[in-house]
Amino acid sequence: MTILVTGGAGYIGSHTIIELHKANHNVIVVDNLSNSSKESIKRVEEISGKSVKFYEYNILDQNKLKEVFKENKIDTVIHFAAFKAVGESVSKPLKYYHNNIAGTVSLLEVMSEFHVKNIIFSSSATVYGDPVSVPIDESFSLSVTNPYGRTKLMMEEILGDVFRADNSWNIVILRYFNPVGAHKSGRIGEDPNGIPNNLMPYISQVAVGKQKELSIFGDDYPTVDGTGVRDYIHVVDLAYGHVMALKKIEDRSGLNIYNLGTGKGYSVLETLHAFELACGKKLNYKISDRRAGDIASCYALPNKAEKELEWTATREIDEMCEDAWRWQTKNPNGYKSGK
Ligand code: UD1
Repeated sequence: MTILVTGGAGYIGSHTIIELHKANHNVIVVDNLSNSSKESIKRVEEISGKSVKFYEYNILDQNKLKEVFKENKIDTVIHFAAFKAVGESVSKPLKYYHNNIAGTVSLLEVMSEFHVKNIIFSSSATVYGDPVSVPIDESFSLSVTNPYGRTKLMMEEILGDVFRADNSWNIVILRYFNPVGAHKSGRIGEDPNGIPNNLMPYISQVAVGKQKELSIFGDDYPTVDGTGVRDYIHVVDLAYGHVMALKKIEDRSGLNIYNLGTGKGYSVLETLHAFELACGKKLNYKISDRRAGDIASCYALPNKAEKELEWTATREIDEMCEDAWRWQTKNPNGYKSGK
């Protein structure tokens, strides 16, 4: 199949292209490089030995998007392109609503015009808000605590409305838990802008000496050791989930929603210790106040994806840390580190 990947130069997008290539799909990317680098696409091509047709376009620009649909016979779209920084979304909500919501509507309109009605959408466990219990299954009630999360929830709702209006659409919504790690080659990985917000890239930067110490946001949560518990999932497992989700599109089975997680939760301290083993050194940390909007525990019940997509995450926390560490040491400044 020919797959259009929006946001294909980003962290999850780039890993997904490699898995799509492995499964013999043809990949086209639209990315405006607002938070990513063209270098990632170059490296993806080098890893998979296949080329990617790349358009440096913004999905908000419908004329440009139409060119892509005219020039290529697209079967399915995998839609990653979105802003994702929670803190920034609180201070600049309109920037998030414009880019994420208007961008998605623009894409869906063009898809509709060209009768391409197959889409896999990149959602997040953030749509579960503070869950009443763990593990979380897809039927849990939805709520959000910040504009970024609200854009994900709104985009899910928009897709639901689109499907209800025209059930010839095939839509798979994937709710990711916490993607971490990197490709085994150490050539592609997560390349955050400035000081990382998320745990794993922050720990990596402490390990490589770019940050002095990790601040652990609270040690008084009702968890195994008081620190926050999350479901970290290797980005390559997550990427492969998209290939399996394509089968659901091929089955023409309407609108489906899946959690992509491992089903296992690790605390901040457990994650830090796993990373210490991977990098072979002790890492400095201090306990600080809780971060506003954080929850105690969040991990998936991944049974639905296991059963219906025949997908399961196979990589453990030690491998996630080893791969994140390899990427960090080989590219201390991300893609700016050069060749
Ligand atoms: C965060 C976002 C979530 C988003 C997800 C994307 C918030 C409140 N939530 O989720 O909406 O979908 O990223 O990956 O930002 N931690 C520290 N010190 C740090 C960084 C994190 O102790 O420097 C802790 C956090 O308190 C949390 C855990 O590590 O318990 C994981 O944090 P993070 O990687 O930011 O992910 P989430 O908070 O789950």
